[in-house]
Amino acid sequence: MEKTFIEGFSKKSKQEKLATIATYFDHPEKSIRIFNSFSHPEAAVQEVIDEFSENTISNFHLPYNIAPNFLINGKIFAVPMVIEESSVVAAASKSAKFWYQLGGFHYKIDETEKVGQVHFLWHEDLEKLEAHFEELKELFLLGTEDITLNMRKRGGGIKDIHLKNLTDEEPDLMQFFITFETVDSMGANFINSCLERIASIFRNWYASKADFKEDGLEVVMSILSNLTPNCLVKCWVETDVKNLDGIVPGVSGIDFAKKFQTAVRIAQVDPYRATTHNKGIYNGVDAVVLATGNDFRAIEACGHAYASRSGKYSSLTTCTIDNNIFRFELTLPIAIGVVGGLTNLHPLVKLSLEMLGQPNAKELMGIAAAAGLANNFGAVKSLTTTGIQQGHMKMHLINILNQLGVNKQNHPIVFNYFKDKNVSVSAVRNFVESNFIK
Ligand code: MEV
Repeated sequence: MEKTFIEGFSKKSKQEKLATIATYFDHPEKSIRIFNSFSHPEAAVQEVIDEFSENTISNFHLPYNIAPNFLINGKIFAVPMVIEESSVVAAASKSAKFWYQLGGFHYKIDETEKVGQVHFLWHEDLEKLEAHFEELKELFLLGTEDITLNMRKRGGGIKDIHLKNLTDEEPDLMQFFITFETVDSMGANFINSCLERIASIFRNWYASKADFKEDGLEVVMSILSNLTPNCLVKCWVETDVKNLDGIVPGVSGIDFAKKFQTAVRIAQVDPYRATTHNKGIYNGVDAVVLATGNDFRAIEACGHAYASRSGKYSSLTTCTIDNNIFRFELTLPIAIGVVGGLTNLHPLVKLSLEMLGQPNAKELMGIAAAAGLANNFGAVKSLTTTGIQQGHMKMHLINILNQLGVNKQNHPIVFNYFKDKNVSVSAVRNFVESNFIK
Protein backbone atom coordinates (compact mmCIF):
# COMPACT_ATOMS: atom_id res chain seq x y z
CA MET A 1 0.00 0.00 0.00
CA GLU A 2 1.11 3.55 -0.65
CA LYS A 3 2.64 5.50 2.22
CA THR A 4 0.92 8.77 3.02
CA PHE A 5 1.48 11.63 5.48
CA ILE A 6 0.48 10.46 8.97
CA GLU A 7 -1.74 12.87 10.86
CA GLY A 8 -1.74 12.88 14.68
CA PHE A 9 0.46 9.80 15.15
CA SER A 10 1.37 10.65 18.74
CA LYS A 11 -2.32 10.82 19.76
CA LYS A 12 -3.02 7.24 18.64
CA SER A 13 -3.03 4.24 20.97
CA LYS A 14 -0.17 1.77 20.62
CA GLN A 15 -2.27 -0.67 18.58
CA GLU A 16 -3.50 2.17 16.37
CA LYS A 17 0.11 3.27 15.83
CA LEU A 18 1.05 -0.28 14.86
CA ALA A 19 -1.89 -0.50 12.47
CA THR A 20 -0.92 2.85 10.96
CA ILE A 21 2.66 1.83 10.20
CA ALA A 22 1.66 -1.69 9.08
CA THR A 23 1.83 -0.47 5.47
CA TYR A 24 5.60 -0.07 5.85
CA PHE A 25 6.07 -3.84 6.15
CA ASP A 26 5.95 -6.66 3.60
CA HIS A 27 4.05 -8.88 6.03
CA PRO A 28 2.07 -6.44 8.20
CA GLU A 29 0.30 -8.95 10.43
CA LYS A 30 3.46 -10.88 11.17
CA SER A 31 5.40 -7.66 11.83
CA ILE A 32 2.76 -6.42 14.28
CA ARG A 33 2.82 -9.81 16.02
CA ILE A 34 6.60 -9.54 16.42
CA PHE A 35 6.41 -5.97 17.73
CA ASN A 36 3.74 -7.02 20.23
CA SER A 37 5.74 -10.06 21.32
CA PHE A 38 8.51 -7.75 22.54
CA SER A 39 6.19 -6.03 25.01
CA HIS A 40 6.73 -6.63 28.69
CA PRO A 41 4.25 -9.20 30.06
CA GLU A 42 3.36 -6.94 33.01
CA ALA A 43 1.25 -4.02 31.76
CA ALA A 44 2.38 -1.73 34.59
CA VAL A 45 6.05 -2.24 33.75
CA GLN A 46 5.36 -1.71 30.06
CA GLU A 47 3.59 1.53 30.87
CA VAL A 48 6.65 2.81 32.75
CA ILE A 49 8.86 1.96 29.75
CA ASP A 50 6.44 3.54 27.27
CA GLU A 51 6.50 6.76 29.23
CA PHE A 52 10.29 7.12 28.88
CA SER A 53 9.77 8.18 25.30
CA GLU A 54 7.29 9.15 22.56
CA ASN A 55 5.47 7.18 19.88
CA THR A 56 6.55 3.89 21.44
CA ILE A 57 5.35 0.77 19.66
CA SER A 58 7.53 -1.89 21.24
CA ASN A 59 10.73 -2.55 23.20
CA PHE A 60 14.16 -3.04 21.67
CA HIS A 61 16.09 -5.64 23.63
CA LEU A 62 19.82 -5.54 24.25
CA PRO A 63 21.74 -8.16 26.23
CA TYR A 64 22.23 -7.39 29.93
CA ASN A 65 25.60 -8.90 30.87
CA ILE A 66 27.83 -9.18 33.91
CA ALA A 67 31.59 -8.71 34.11
CA PRO A 68 32.49 -10.19 37.52
CA ASN A 69 35.63 -9.84 39.65
CA PHE A 70 36.27 -6.13 39.24
CA LEU A 71 38.41 -5.02 42.17
CA ILE A 72 38.04 -1.23 42.26
CA ASN A 73 39.59 0.86 45.04
CA GLY A 74 39.73 -2.30 47.13
CA LYS A 75 36.06 -3.26 46.69
CA ILE A 76 34.79 -6.17 44.60
CA PHE A 77 32.10 -5.50 42.00
CA ALA A 78 30.12 -7.57 39.54
CA VAL A 79 29.68 -4.93 36.85
CA PRO A 80 26.46 -4.79 34.81
CA MET A 81 27.06 -4.07 31.12
CA VAL A 82 24.36 -3.55 28.52
CA ILE A 83 25.89 -4.10 25.09
CA GLU A 84 25.33 -6.09 21.93
CA GLU A 85 28.96 -6.52 20.79
CA SER A 86 30.03 -10.10 21.46
CA SER A 87 33.59 -9.69 22.69
CA VAL A 88 33.24 -6.62 24.95
CA VAL A 89 32.06 -8.33 28.12
CA ALA A 90 34.46 -11.23 27.60
CA ALA A 91 37.35 -8.73 27.27
CA ALA A 92 36.26 -6.72 30.33
CA SER A 93 35.88 -9.89 32.43
CA LYS A 94 39.26 -11.23 31.36
CA SER A 95 41.02 -7.94 32.16
CA ALA A 96 39.18 -7.66 35.50
CA LYS A 97 40.29 -11.18 36.44
CA PHE A 98 43.88 -10.47 35.41
CA TRP A 99 44.15 -7.22 37.40
CA TYR A 100 42.32 -8.67 40.41
CA GLN A 101 45.47 -10.50 41.51
CA LEU A 102 47.58 -7.37 40.95
CA GLY A 103 45.64 -5.00 43.20
CA GLY A 104 42.82 -4.22 40.82
CA PHE A 105 41.78 -0.82 39.48
CA HIS A 106 42.28 2.45 41.34
CA TYR A 107 40.53 5.73 40.80
CA LYS A 108 40.65 9.29 42.01
CA ILE A 109 38.22 12.16 41.50
CA ASP A 110 39.07 15.74 42.37
CA GLU A 111 36.04 17.64 41.14
CA THR A 112 32.58 16.94 39.75
CA GLU A 113 31.79 20.34 38.31
CA LYS A 114 29.06 20.73 35.67
CA VAL A 115 28.58 23.63 33.27
CA GLY A 116 25.66 25.64 31.90
CA GLN A 117 25.57 28.63 29.57
CA VAL A 118 23.25 31.51 28.77
CA HIS A 119 24.19 32.73 25.29
CA PHE A 120 23.13 36.24 24.39
CA LEU A 121 23.76 39.12 22.01
CA TRP A 122 24.56 42.41 23.73
CA HIS A 123 24.02 45.32 21.38
CA GLU A 124 24.53 47.84 24.20
CA ASP A 125 27.70 49.35 25.56
CA LEU A 126 29.81 46.46 26.94
CA GLU A 127 31.06 48.53 29.85
CA LYS A 128 27.51 48.84 31.15
CA LEU A 129 27.21 45.06 31.33
CA GLU A 130 30.60 44.69 32.98
CA ALA A 131 29.76 47.40 35.50
CA HIS A 132 26.51 45.65 36.46
CA PHE A 133 27.86 42.09 36.43
CA GLU A 134 28.32 41.66 40.19
CA GLU A 135 24.79 43.01 40.79
CA LEU A 136 23.44 40.59 38.17
CA LYS A 137 25.24 37.66 39.78
CA GLU A 138 23.51 38.45 43.09
CA LEU A 139 20.15 38.67 41.33
CA PHE A 140 20.72 35.33 39.60
CA LEU A 141 21.70 33.56 42.82
CA LEU A 142 18.78 35.03 44.78
CA GLY A 143 16.29 34.47 41.97
CA THR A 144 17.15 30.78 41.66
CA GLU A 145 17.09 30.02 45.38
CA ASP A 146 13.80 28.13 45.18
CA ILE A 147 15.21 25.86 42.45
CA THR A 148 18.56 25.32 44.16
CA LEU A 149 17.22 24.82 47.71
CA ASN A 150 17.20 21.00 47.73
CA MET A 151 20.46 20.78 45.82
CA ARG A 152 22.10 23.15 48.32
CA LYS A 153 20.85 20.95 51.18
CA ARG A 154 22.70 18.04 49.52
CA GLY A 155 25.89 20.09 49.19
CA GLY A 156 25.41 21.29 45.61
CA GLY A 157 24.00 24.27 43.74
CA ILE A 158 25.42 27.07 41.63
CA LYS A 159 29.18 27.32 42.19
CA ASP A 160 30.06 30.41 40.18
CA ILE A 161 28.96 32.68 37.34
CA HIS A 162 31.39 34.16 34.82
CA LEU A 163 30.85 36.67 32.06
CA LYS A 164 32.50 35.57 28.81
CA ASN A 165 33.18 37.82 25.89
CA LEU A 166 32.99 36.09 22.50
CA THR A 167 32.78 39.25 20.41
CA ASP A 168 36.08 38.41 18.72
CA GLU A 169 34.35 35.35 17.24
CA GLU A 170 30.93 36.88 16.55
CA PRO A 171 29.75 40.51 16.89
CA ASP A 172 27.98 41.22 20.20
CA LEU A 173 28.14 37.59 21.34
CA MET A 174 28.40 37.23 25.11
CA GLN A 175 27.78 34.45 27.56
CA PHE A 176 27.12 33.70 31.19
CA PHE A 177 29.26 30.65 31.90
CA ILE A 178 27.87 29.04 35.02
CA THR A 179 29.36 26.20 37.03
CA PHE A 180 27.28 23.82 39.12
CA GLU A 181 27.69 21.03 41.63
CA THR A 182 24.90 18.50 41.24
CA VAL A 183 26.17 15.89 43.75
CA ASP A 184 24.63 12.48 42.93
CA SER A 185 22.51 13.54 39.98
CA MET A 186 23.69 14.13 36.43
CA GLY A 187 21.80 17.37 36.90
CA ALA A 188 20.65 18.22 33.36
CA ASN A 189 17.11 19.22 34.35
CA PHE A 190 18.31 21.10 37.40
CA ILE A 191 20.90 23.03 35.41
CA ASN A 192 18.53 23.84 32.55
CA SER A 193 15.86 25.08 34.97
CA CYS A 194 18.38 27.36 36.67
CA LEU A 195 19.60 28.66 33.31
CA GLU A 196 16.13 29.45 32.01
CA ARG A 197 15.33 31.27 35.24
CA ILE A 198 18.58 33.23 34.98
CA ALA A 199 17.78 34.19 31.38
CA SER A 200 14.36 35.41 32.43
CA ILE A 201 15.79 37.44 35.37
CA PHE A 202 18.32 38.92 32.97
CA ARG A 203 15.62 39.94 30.44
CA ASN A 204 13.48 41.53 33.17
CA TRP A 205 16.46 43.33 34.63
CA TYR A 206 17.33 44.70 31.19
CA ALA A 207 13.75 45.81 30.54
CA SER A 208 13.75 47.70 33.87
CA LYS A 209 16.69 49.87 32.78
CA ALA A 210 15.21 53.04 31.34
CA ASP A 211 18.57 54.29 30.05
CA PHE A 212 19.36 51.12 28.03
CA LYS A 213 18.56 50.79 24.30
CA GLU A 214 15.20 49.21 23.62
CA ASP A 215 16.46 46.13 21.74
CA GLY A 216 19.92 45.93 23.20
CA LEU A 217 19.61 42.41 24.60
CA GLU A 218 18.76 39.21 22.75
CA VAL A 219 18.96 36.03 24.78
CA VAL A 220 19.69 33.35 22.18
CA MET A 221 19.51 30.21 24.31
CA SER A 222 20.12 28.73 27.73
CA ILE A 223 21.40 25.17 27.98
CA LEU A 224 23.81 23.00 29.91
CA SER A 225 27.11 22.11 28.28
CA ASN A 226 27.95 18.43 27.99
CA LEU A 227 31.62 19.35 28.09
CA THR A 228 32.66 18.85 31.71
CA PRO A 229 36.47 19.00 31.84
CA ASN A 230 36.31 19.53 35.61
CA CYS A 231 34.28 16.39 36.20
CA LEU A 232 37.12 13.94 35.71
CA VAL A 233 37.93 10.50 36.96
CA LYS A 234 41.46 9.18 36.76
CA CYS A 235 41.52 5.38 36.78
CA TRP A 236 44.65 3.26 36.60
CA VAL A 237 46.23 -0.15 36.98
CA GLU A 238 49.88 -0.60 37.79
CA THR A 239 52.33 -3.35 38.45
CA ASP A 240 55.97 -4.34 38.24
CA VAL A 241 56.66 -5.51 34.69
CA LYS A 242 57.84 -8.84 36.17
CA ASN A 243 54.18 -9.57 36.90
CA LEU A 244 53.42 -9.30 33.20
CA ASP A 245 55.83 -12.15 32.36
CA GLY A 246 53.91 -14.76 30.40
CA ILE A 247 50.73 -12.68 30.10
CA VAL A 248 51.25 -13.70 26.50
CA PRO A 249 52.84 -17.16 26.33
CA GLY A 250 56.55 -16.90 25.64
CA VAL A 251 56.72 -13.10 25.95
CA SER A 252 58.55 -11.35 28.80
CA GLY A 253 56.71 -8.75 30.87
CA ILE A 254 59.00 -5.93 29.77
CA ASP A 255 58.64 -6.78 26.06
CA PHE A 256 54.88 -6.95 26.40
CA ALA A 257 54.81 -3.64 28.31
CA LYS A 258 57.00 -1.83 25.77
CA LYS A 259 54.93 -2.92 22.79
CA PHE A 260 51.75 -2.06 24.69
CA GLN A 261 53.17 1.38 25.49
CA THR A 262 54.03 1.96 21.82
CA ALA A 263 50.48 1.05 20.83
CA VAL A 264 49.09 3.61 23.30
CA ARG A 265 51.59 6.15 22.01
CA ILE A 266 50.31 5.59 18.46
CA ALA A 267 46.80 6.43 19.70
CA GLN A 268 48.22 9.58 21.30
CA VAL A 269 49.81 10.86 18.10
CA ASP A 270 47.45 9.62 15.37
CA PRO A 271 43.77 10.69 15.40
CA TYR A 272 42.77 7.78 13.12
CA ARG A 273 44.05 5.26 15.65
CA ALA A 274 42.90 7.40 18.60
CA THR A 275 39.29 7.25 17.40
CA THR A 276 39.25 3.44 17.36
CA HIS A 277 41.27 3.24 20.58
CA ASN A 278 38.80 5.52 22.36
CA LYS A 279 35.86 3.66 20.81
CA GLY A 280 37.20 0.57 22.57
CA ILE A 281 37.23 2.51 25.86
CA TYR A 282 33.61 3.54 25.33
CA ASN A 283 32.68 -0.09 24.64
CA GLY A 284 33.13 -0.57 28.38
CA VAL A 285 32.04 2.85 29.61
CA ASP A 286 28.81 3.02 27.58
CA ALA A 287 27.80 -0.49 28.59
CA VAL A 288 27.92 0.51 32.28
CA VAL A 289 26.33 3.88 31.54
CA LEU A 290 23.40 2.17 29.79
CA ALA A 291 22.97 -0.46 32.50
CA THR A 292 22.76 2.30 35.09
CA GLY A 293 20.27 4.43 33.14
CA ASN A 294 22.59 7.28 32.21
CA ASP A 295 22.89 9.23 28.97
CA PHE A 296 25.64 7.65 26.89
CA ARG A 297 25.33 10.25 24.10
CA ALA A 298 26.22 13.04 26.54
CA ILE A 299 29.07 11.02 27.99
CA GLU A 300 30.55 10.14 24.58
CA ALA A 301 30.21 13.70 23.25
CA CYS A 302 32.06 14.97 26.30
CA GLY A 303 34.80 12.35 26.06
CA HIS A 304 35.52 13.00 22.40
CA ALA A 305 35.58 16.78 22.93
CA TYR A 306 37.94 16.28 25.89
CA ALA A 307 40.13 14.00 23.78
CA SER A 308 40.56 16.96 21.38
CA ARG A 309 41.45 19.51 24.05
CA SER A 310 44.99 20.05 22.73
CA GLY A 311 43.58 20.88 19.30
CA LYS A 312 44.35 17.36 18.06
CA TYR A 313 42.16 14.34 18.82
CA SER A 314 44.14 11.94 20.99
CA SER A 315 43.99 8.88 23.23
CA LEU A 316 42.15 9.07 26.55
CA THR A 317 44.63 6.59 28.04
CA THR A 318 48.33 6.88 28.73
CA CYS A 319 50.92 4.23 29.50
CA THR A 320 54.20 4.69 31.34
CA ILE A 321 57.00 2.35 32.37
CA ASP A 322 59.09 3.98 35.12
CA ASN A 323 61.56 2.00 37.23
CA ASN A 324 59.97 -1.13 35.78
CA ILE A 325 56.51 -0.11 36.98
CA PHE A 326 53.95 -0.43 34.22
CA ARG A 327 51.11 2.06 34.72
CA PHE A 328 48.13 2.28 32.42
CA GLU A 329 45.79 5.18 33.10
CA LEU A 330 42.51 6.53 31.78
CA THR A 331 41.44 10.13 32.33
CA LEU A 332 37.76 10.35 31.64
CA PRO A 333 35.37 13.27 31.92
CA ILE A 334 32.06 11.72 32.88
CA ALA A 335 28.96 13.48 34.19
CA ILE A 336 26.94 10.60 35.55
CA GLY A 337 24.15 10.28 38.11
CA VAL A 338 22.63 7.75 40.48
CA VAL A 339 19.47 9.73 41.26
CA GLY A 340 16.95 11.29 38.91
CA GLY A 341 16.36 10.40 35.27
CA LEU A 342 15.78 6.70 34.63
CA THR A 343 17.64 5.65 37.76
CA ASN A 344 14.53 5.38 39.94
CA LEU A 345 12.23 4.22 37.15
CA HIS A 346 13.72 1.46 35.04
CA PRO A 347 13.41 -1.83 36.93
CA LEU A 348 16.73 -3.14 35.57
CA VAL A 349 18.55 0.11 36.31
CA LYS A 350 17.40 -0.19 39.93
CA LEU A 351 18.84 -3.72 40.02
CA SER A 352 22.11 -2.56 38.42
CA LEU A 353 22.55 0.05 41.13
CA GLU A 354 21.64 -2.46 43.83
CA MET A 355 24.17 -4.93 42.43
CA LEU A 356 26.81 -2.20 42.58
CA GLY A 357 25.96 -1.56 46.24
CA GLN A 358 24.01 1.69 45.65
CA PRO A 359 27.09 3.67 44.65
CA ASN A 360 27.19 7.44 44.81
CA ALA A 361 27.93 9.34 41.59
CA LYS A 362 31.68 9.39 42.25
CA GLU A 363 31.80 5.63 42.80
CA LEU A 364 29.84 5.07 39.61
CA MET A 365 32.32 7.30 37.75
CA GLY A 366 35.09 5.03 39.05
CA ILE A 367 33.26 1.85 38.05
CA ALA A 368 32.48 3.09 34.52
CA ALA A 369 36.09 4.23 34.10
CA ALA A 370 37.38 0.85 35.29
CA ALA A 371 35.20 -0.90 32.71
CA GLY A 372 36.56 1.45 30.03
CA LEU A 373 40.16 0.87 31.08
CA ALA A 374 39.60 -2.90 31.27
CA ASN A 375 38.25 -2.97 27.72
CA ASN A 376 41.07 -0.79 26.45
CA PHE A 377 43.63 -3.05 28.15
CA GLY A 378 42.02 -6.14 26.59
CA ALA A 379 41.86 -4.56 23.12
CA VAL A 380 45.43 -3.23 23.08
CA LYS A 381 46.75 -6.50 24.51
CA SER A 382 45.04 -8.50 21.74
CA LEU A 383 46.02 -6.04 19.03
CA THR A 384 49.69 -6.13 19.97
CA THR A 385 49.82 -9.92 20.32
CA THR A 386 47.33 -12.29 18.68
CA GLY A 387 45.36 -9.66 16.73
CA ILE A 388 41.76 -8.84 17.46
CA GLN A 389 39.99 -11.12 15.02
CA GLN A 390 40.87 -14.39 16.70
CA GLY A 391 38.92 -13.69 19.87
CA HIS A 392 36.35 -11.45 18.27
CA MET A 393 35.34 -13.85 15.51
CA LYS A 394 35.26 -16.79 17.92
CA MET A 395 32.70 -14.83 19.93
CA HIS A 396 30.93 -13.86 16.74
CA LEU A 397 30.78 -17.47 15.48
CA ILE A 398 27.52 -18.06 17.28
CA ASN A 399 25.95 -15.05 15.52
CA ILE A 400 27.16 -16.37 12.16
CA LEU A 401 25.66 -19.80 12.90
CA ASN A 402 22.36 -18.23 13.88
CA GLN A 403 22.43 -16.09 10.75
CA LEU A 404 23.00 -19.20 8.61
CA GLY A 405 20.16 -20.95 10.43
CA VAL A 406 22.34 -23.79 11.75
CA ASN A 407 20.55 -25.97 14.25
CA LYS A 408 21.71 -25.46 17.87
CA GLN A 409 22.54 -29.15 18.30
CA ASN A 410 25.06 -28.87 15.43
CA HIS A 411 26.87 -25.82 16.83
CA PRO A 412 29.46 -27.91 18.74
CA ILE A 413 30.61 -29.57 15.48
CA VAL A 414 31.35 -26.13 14.00
CA PHE A 415 32.90 -24.77 17.22
CA ASN A 416 35.16 -27.79 17.36
CA TYR A 417 36.26 -27.39 13.75
CA PHE A 418 37.08 -23.68 14.20
CA LYS A 419 38.90 -24.23 17.53
CA ASP A 420 42.26 -23.66 15.87
CA LYS A 421 41.21 -21.88 12.66
CA ASN A 422 40.36 -18.33 11.63
CA VAL A 423 36.65 -17.59 11.65
CA SER A 424 35.07 -15.65 8.80
CA VAL A 425 31.53 -15.66 7.45
CA SER A 426 32.64 -17.31 4.20
CA ALA A 427 34.80 -19.93 5.96
CA VAL A 428 31.88 -20.88 8.22
CA ARG A 429 29.44 -20.96 5.31
CA ASN A 430 31.81 -23.21 3.29
CA PHE A 431 32.29 -25.60 6.18
CA VAL A 432 28.58 -25.78 6.97
CA GLU A 433 27.55 -26.25 3.34
CA SER A 434 30.26 -28.72 2.35
CA ASN A 435 29.49 -30.87 5.39
CA PHE A 436 25.70 -30.61 4.96
CA ILE A 437 25.33 -29.23 8.48
CA LYS A 438 21.81 -27.93 9.01
C1 MEV B 1 36.05 -2.91 18.74
O1 MEV B 1 34.74 -2.69 19.18
C2 MEV B 1 37.00 -2.07 19.55
C3 MEV B 1 38.46 -2.15 19.11
O2 MEV B 1 38.60 -1.83 17.74
C4 MEV B 1 39.20 -1.15 19.98
C5 MEV B 1 40.65 -0.93 19.57
O3 MEV B 1 40.99 -1.10 18.40
O4 MEV B 1 41.41 -0.54 20.47
C6 MEV B 1 39.01 -3.53 19.30
